[in-house]
This record gives sequence, C-alpha cells and structure tokens, in this order.
Amino acid sequence: MSQWHPSSWRELPILQQPTYKDQQSLKDVEQKLSTYPPLVFAEETRALYSELGEVSQGRGFLLQGGDCAESFAEFNAPKIRDTFKVILQMAVVLTFSGRCPVTKVARMAGQYAKPRSADFETINGVEYPSYRGDIINSFELSQEAREPDPTRMLDAYYRSSSTLNLLRAFAQGGLADLNQVNRWNMTFVENNPLKERYQDVAYRIQDALAFMDIVGINAKNHPPLHETTLFTSHEALLLNYEQALTRVDTLTGKWYNCSAHMLWIGERTRQLDHAHVEFFKGIHNPIGVKVGPTMDEDELIRLIDALNPDNDPGRLTFITRMGVNNLEKNLPRLLKRVKDEGRHVVWSSDPMHGNTKKASSGYKTRNFDDILGEIQQFFAAHRAEGTHAGGIHLEMTGQHVTECTGGAYKISDEDLAECYQTQCDPRLNADQVLELAFLVADHLKSGL
Ligand code: PEP
Ligand code: CO
Repeated sequence: MSQWHPSSWRELPILQQPTYKDQQSLKDVEQKLSTYPPLVFAEETRALYSELGEVSQGRGFLLQGGDCAESFAEFNAPKIRDTFKVILQMAVVLTFSGRCPVTKVARMAGQYAKPRSADFETINGVEYPSYRGDIINSFELSQEAREPDPTRMLDAYYRSSSTLNLLRAFAQGGLADLNQVNRWNMTFVENNPLKERYQDVAYRIQDALAFMDIVGINAKNHPPLHETTLFTSHEALLLNYEQALTRVDTLTGKWYNCSAHMLWIGERTRQLDHAHVEFFKGIHNPIGVKVGPTMDEDELIRLIDALNPDNDPGRLTFITRMGVNNLEKNLPRLLKRVKDEGRHVVWSSDPMHGNTKKASSGYKTRNFDDILGEIQQFFAAHRAEGTHAGGIHLEMTGQHVTECTGGAYKISDEDLAECYQTQCDPRLNADQVLELAFLVADHLKSGL
C-alpha cells in the first residue's frame, strides 16, 4: 500500500477507456483539472462513510438514484430540482412508512462516463464509435461528434460543480423543509393512483411536526427538520478525470477522490488485477462495486480483501444487479459466504441493470414488475440469510418520461415512443418511483 499513488492504475490493464487522438490536449486538461478546487470536502465523505457503517450494521437504508447518464444537453435547473425532489420524496416515504433512517446518495453531479457493450454501433448501415458519456464524446450521430475529446472533462467538471452547488442550495436552503413536504410534492402525484396514500403520509408528518412544535421542537431550533443532506456519487470509470481530482486531505493526510462523495466500480471493470480496483484501493471514500450474477464467492472475498482489508463498516457497498431470473440462484450463496467470514458490507440492490431488454418497438426498456420482482427477491434472500437488505440503487428521473414499461399507468411497449429521452439506459419516471417507494417501504418495515 505504501507504493500506492493516484497514478498507479496507469501500470495496469484497463477496460472501457476512450482512445484520445490528441495526447497533448489530454495532458493539458489533466494538468488543469489537477489544480482546480475539489468538488467535495473529505470530511463530508467521512460523514457518508459513517452513515453507511450504520447501514451495514442494519441500522439504516441507502437510497441511491439518478440518471443512467447525465447529459450536457439536459443541464438545467428544473431537471436538477425534479430529480432532487423525487429522491427526497422517496426518502420521506421510506423513512416514515418504512420506519428507517435513509441515507440519500444521488447519481448526479458527475455521472457522465458510460461503459458500453461494444466499441462501435451500426445505425442505418453506418458504423459509428459508441457513445461513452458526455465527459468523453457526444451523443450526436456523426463521426466527428463521436470522437473522444479531452476538453469535455473540463465541461463535465464545471457542470458537476454547478449541479452540486444547486443541490447544496436546495438541501440547505429550505426546499427540503419537512413542513413543505406536502406542498412541494403535489405536482408529482397529481394524477397518481397513489396520491391519497402519499397525501396521508404527508398529513401524518404534518401532524407529528405540529405536535413537536407545541412541545418546543421546530425547524428554527432543530435544523434537521429544515434541511437535509444529499450526497453525490458516480461510476469512476474515466480514471484520467478521477485521478486529477484525487487529493491529499490536509486533516488526515489520506488520499480522497474529491469528484464525489461515493464512487463505484462498474460490473465490466471490476477485475482484481486491473486498473480500476488498483485506483480504488488507495482512495478513502466510501466505495461501491457492482456485482452481477457471474460473481463467485471466492472472487467476492478477494475483492473485499483488496478494497476493505481492515473490514471497516461503511467502506464497501456491494450493489447487486442480478436480474429477476438470476437472483435466487446467485445472491444467497454470496450473502452466506460474506456473513460466514464476518465481513462488513452494505448490500444494495440495483434492480435495473439485470432487467434490461428490447421492446417490440425497438426501444431499450425495463419492466416495472421485473424491477419490483428483483427487489422483492432481494429482501427475501436477506430475510432467509439473516442479513440486512441495506439499500436500493435506481436509474430514475423526476421527469414524466416513458422509458420503463408497466407500473400503475401500465406504460406499454407502444407508449415508449411518447417521451423516451434517455441517452443511455431507461429510467423510472416520477410516478413509477413513488409507487416503488411504497412497495419498498412495506418490505423495510417488515424486515426490521
Ligand atoms: C450503470 O450503473 O449505469 C451501469 C453501467 O451499471 P453496471 O456496471 O452494473 O452494468
Ligand atoms: Co445504466
């Protein structure tokens, strides 16, 4: 470990990276970024670390969500506000109905790099380099736009910084005031069949607040009623960018990746002897690793040895993405092994990435029942093993998109064309998220 440096990853094999033609521009950008201010402060990441430590001990729940890929084109205040609100709305339902403290982590303010299953895609008979996220190339369909451009890292940095600024303002400046919960959510649920159930929760919260006010506890003397904490996260895929934002914390002398509070390694880049695992070994943030159905028990333990050798609760979150048809066969054996070895991890369920399919209309989609099915199986597997179902990881948006089928509105394959906006994977819309929140809250309550 004494050998570790933010650049050690460069010695190792690496997957899913762009090939930059202009190496000088790449160097200039990296140099510039390495002098820019950090986006988050190490002390904040330690606060998240300790909350996740509680989650790993069964005393909390992790809610992580946001776009599959943030986009430069959709970079605006209403978009940020709506995602913020929908995460908070879900957290309120989980906290109140599930009777469980919820740690909120957005897939925002930096979720710009995407792993792809192929380097090229063929559209109307023409082959183009795949879109790899706005930090790398453009979604636009032309050879030129798809060429990786290092200066996009600077654009991503500025956008991340500005997004984070607004999120902090919303979280601390009153938008998250529990007294407002009733008001700020109504437009989301206007025509939602669950509106009454949601309103009931909101009224009960107001009743509780009114009572507390009478006994002297209110938003003025109790900041948690008025503000919240929303942490940020993204897949740390583009290591040139991540390295440039990795800094020594002056308080502790340790390295932190200051591009977000929490970073994760994707399913395609978690090889033990490759660059991403090496990079993650030396940063002291709380980290996640995606775990698909092919993971074997020994490999999982070796990953824990590499990434959390001190067995610190809160350091490591496994984000399982098995697919509704693979979970029952593959999750229990992993839970059992980790439990038998006494390792502390947070288990979180990503019910999105194992359930992606192509609709008859040609769109990439996911069905609400498959997503819910995977979450239900996730809770059941933990119940059977006596472990804690610690969180969920969702691709979702506050916009009223039609990207995932099913849900109370019964979005069909044919409906997908109506408002299909994602630049990458299909996301749950605001209504589907609310519906899921109630269903998950019921599981949470019965599981505690
Ligand atoms: C993602 O989270 O968008 C993603 C690519 O996931 P995974 O690494 O699980 O495939
Ligand atoms: Co995705």
